[in-house]
Amino acid sequence: MKIGVLNETQLSEKRVAISPNIAKLLIEKGFELLIEEGAGKVSSFKNSDYTSVGAVVAKREVVFKDANVLIKINPFNEEDLKLVSDEQILMSQLYYLSNPKLIEAIASKGVTAFSMDAMPRISRAQDMDVLSSQSNLAGYKAVIVGAYEMTKIFPLMMTAAGTIIPSKVLIYGIGVAGLQAIATAKRLGAVVMATDIRMETKEQAESLGAKFIMVDNTGEESEGGYAKEASEDYVRRQKEAVNKSLFDADLVITTAMVPGRKAPVLITEEQVKQMKNGAIIIDLAALQGGNCELSKMGETVVEHGVKIIGTTMAPESVSTNASELYAKNMYNFLMHLTDENNAFKWELEEEITDGTLIVHEGKIRKN
Ligand code: NAI
Repeated sequence: MKIGVLNETQLSEKRVAISPNIAKLLIEKGFELLIEEGAGKVSSFKNSDYTSVGAVVAKREVVFKDANVLIKINPFNEEDLKLVSDEQILMSQLYYLSNPKLIEAIASKGVTAFSMDAMPRISRAQDMDVLSSQSNLAGYKAVIVGAYEMTKIFPLMMTAAGTIIPSKVLIYGIGVAGLQAIATAKRLGAVVMATDIRMETKEQAESLGAKFIMVDNTGEESEGGYAKEASEDYVRRQKEAVNKSLFDADLVITTAMVPGRKAPVLITEEQVKQMKNGAIIIDLAALQGGNCELSKMGETVVEHGVKIIGTTMAPESVSTNASELYAKNMYNFLMHLTDENNAFKWELEEEITDGTLIVHEGKIRKN
């Protein structure tokens, strides 16, 4: 089976779906690897890193023409779809709930398409979960970028010239990114506070040393480990409970997302006005619309004395590690879907296949 790895054409994307290490593992398993010229360049992988492990580096058209499976990170776009043929299997993130037109366009090509972001949140799928592997890095890097941007240090420091009090970090959303952000900020010596609509996160946040800000979530739902959209009443209660910490924070990292929906607005302009001068907000939900009303994806804006950075972080700034982890997720997923002869052997009812298989031989299975 020939696996084709494509260049990511999306602006600011610096990852590649398969790293040379994982290309090597796949080749040892008997797969053939076709890598688009320069696909690894922005993740610091050279063409020769791939050819030295036995992969073939080829032009874009050749990869599209010869591969049985085409792998990307970002959704296949219109330009890609012009080049695919009906026997091919596409694997990427598709965000099918937010992209119904794209899913129709994919189906019209008669192909089969898996969406990595639709991986079920079950224990045996953990090593294939790309959202998780990428969010973990994003949470870490958000704290590092925050520390760099701040005009203060994180830890308590007693010096002959006086005592420096620790910085206060507030995290909204205690999922994978939020937990890693808590752990990283704590390790650097900050006082960390965190909040989430899901009560089960209280214990997780506290076990990492954060103070959990409790918001009464009566009447709010969650499903399969994911939050549902919060009610207006919850938003009001959340503001009441969190505002004191928000107005006192030096660094705020927001990570709150709801699958298939725009990210909830948790910090309005009115709230930003009351924050400390010089505070930093890093909005990891910026691509989904942002948790802060004032954030702009891919931009740093300063409003009312607060610097607001809208970013997805992992793709942009830690692309070597992010590519390696995404690639390992893809490897595990390919192992899950194939037999010892490297032929696909999936069963449509099996939970991981069922969850991720969005288009099967031109038929839309999920929308
Ligand atoms: P996410 O990226 O969808 O959202 C981040 C966090 O924001 C979540 O904890 C969510 O509850 C919170 N949030 C959403 N709306 C909010 C609001 N209005 N106010 C405050 N917080 C809000 O979540 P992520 O990181 O993907 O994780 C979701 C859950 O799935 C976690 O419990 C995680 O441990 C679990 N998980 C399980 C996996 C597995 O079993 N294979 C793999 C990855 C995650």
